Amino acid sequence: MSKEDISRRQFLNYTLTGVGGFMAAGMLMPMVRFAIDPILEKGASQDMVAVTEVSKIGKEPKRFNFKIKQKDGWYESEVTQSAWVYKNGKGELIALSPVCKHLGCTIDWNTDPAHPNQFYCPCHGGRYEKDGTNIKGTPPLAPLDVYDSQVKDGKLYLGKAKPRKGA
Ligand code: FES
Repeated sequence: MSKEDISRRQFLNYTLTGVGGFMAAGMLMPMVRFAIDPILEKGASQDMVAVTEVSKIGKEPKRFNFKIKQKDGWYESEVTQSAWVYKNGKGELIALSPVCKHLGCTIDWNTDPAHPNQFYCPCHGGRYEKDGTNIKGTPPLAPLDVYDSQVKDGKLYLGKAKPRKGA
């Protein structure tokens, strides 16, 4: 075999491998894209959910439970969430997440006799002011998340709980 024959064979090998690889990628890419599509979708937007009548909300924080539909990849489920809701001094509705910003325990209102009128987390003694601001010197390093809220036809609707900047 001459040197030219070998290089011609090599050239054919490279060309066929390249074209074959290109065609395989062309067929596989749509399949891969289809398989992982739900994962690539942006974080599922959460619809606003009616939680309670505005007339039932007072100045003292009260816990309300509500259900939301959650889509996680291919899996759809109904999840129960809670919010601590009250009217502040200006008459604005405040809806706070009950999830402690330290390690995720559930906070409660006014249950620590040593520190009345605060949110209290029993897990490690975390405390928050009524407006959800974390109290310095206690484990949580950020204020409670606040729900997106909207009032329509006398009802309070809540959306996603969003973090605020740390105190
Ligand atoms: S989880 Fe709330 S203080 Fe640690």
